[in-house]
Amino acid sequence: MDLVIEGRFLIDEELKETSVGIEDGKIVTIGKIVRGGDERIVFSSGIITPGFTDPHVHFREPGLTAKEDFRSGTMSALFGGVTCVLDMPNTNPPTTDMRTLMDKKATVRSKAHVDYGLFAALTPNAKIESLAPHVAGFKLFMGSTTGNILLNDDNEIGYLMNDIARSGKVMSVHAEDDSMIQKDTEHSNWDHLRNRPVEAEYNAVRRLSRYKGMKINICHVTDPNTAALAANAGFTTEVTLHHMMFGAENVTGTEYKVNPPIRDLRTRDGLCKAVEAGRITMFGSDHAPHTQSDKMQEYSTAPGGMVGVETTIPILMDWAMKGKFPLALLDRMGARNPAATFGLNKGRIKVGMDADLVFFDTKKVSKIDADTLHSKAGHTAYAGMEAIFPDTVIVRGNIQIQDGEYCGGAIGVDTSEHPRD
Ligand code: DOR
Ligand code: ZN
Ligand code: ZN
Repeated sequence: MDLVIEGRFLIDEELKETSVGIEDGKIVTIGKIVRGGDERIVFSSGIITPGFTDPHVHFREPGLTAKEDFRSGTMSALFGGVTCVLDMPNTNPPTTDMRTLMDKKATVRSKAHVDYGLFAALTPNAKIESLAPHVAGFKLFMGSTTGNILLNDDNEIGYLMNDIARSGKVMSVHAEDDSMIQKDTEHSNWDHLRNRPVEAEYNAVRRLSRYKGMKINICHVTDPNTAALAANAGFTTEVTLHHMMFGAENVTGTEYKVNPPIRDLRTRDGLCKAVEAGRITMFGSDHAPHTQSDKMQEYSTAPGGMVGVETTIPILMDWAMKGKFPLALLDRMGARNPAATFGLNKGRIKVGMDADLVFFDTKKVSKIDADTLHSKAGHTAYAGMEAIFPDTVIVRGNIQIQDGEYCGGAIGVDTSEHPRD
């Protein structure tokens, strides 16, 4: 056995005092007494969770690496307890075919500090069958946002659906019906919200609901009605922390400009209720970094996107420890469900699973500070808020962070090239 860890583990939504043995990057035994181990770590307080999977990040490589790249993005993920990320295709060039996909794979290989998967964007001519074995999933943009890969025509979408169903892969959707988005000049988050009403989100999902039962994942759901519609169609759903935390009434400035927009407080409260009732499948940060100077433009021209891969789990862990959020739901929505949705051998502390583990010293509450985060963005909407950052992070048995310090390497692998056993 390579490594044995003793402590209080979050196993299938319950805390258990036990030991976990790791060999060749996998969990091989779980039990009160696990003997041996070349190395043994004993955590006498705090909790050990499964590694979290963020099914929705924009790491900007290739082409937009002043905003983020695979090294900085995966380092940021690692420090947020996220041991696997699924990266979006709206890069430059966008990931739309075998050439751009293989080029991206070659570019990011050996740069990742956590495991990863890549999405390919759906375009009218996408060669789904050949792309499928190499991607985490497909991404459909029904509303315009960063990158220019909009596909919002029912016929064109319908034409691709058989191939997507046959591929067995998930289709993640930016569900905002572009025909319902106004392009009026914007000066504030209210204007942005007026231009991109919640009806555009609802209608995009309504149009997809004819594909009931397909593996469709609705990204960044902001509204409880959309969540219910998606669930009725058998779709999975993602929620961001920014849509759960902020309301257009009490935020100002481009830091909060994001697509879909920050909704009004009433919608936000409804969304939080849907999350607490277990009606949303998983968290997805939609980490969409832009540089300070991008964001310092006037509101109408500043790009949309918020930074979040490093702060989502630590904030939720702080909430969980304060009794404001169920730890079980954090386990389910942060680790187990995203991994299960995308067919990853991750997200549970269970024999045979990848040994991705995160230790939180739950007494160590700190205040978020943009200067100590690892994204290139250098700004955050969460500055000053309390969070519990991980103390130790293990990716497939590799200790990547110990005592809060990076001590690892660029050992992350592309999960689609390493299929589950
Ligand atoms: O605000 C957003 N920013 N929404 C998206 O869907 C894309 C993202 C980005 O890539 O900047
Ligand atoms: Zn999106
Ligand atoms: Zn996104």
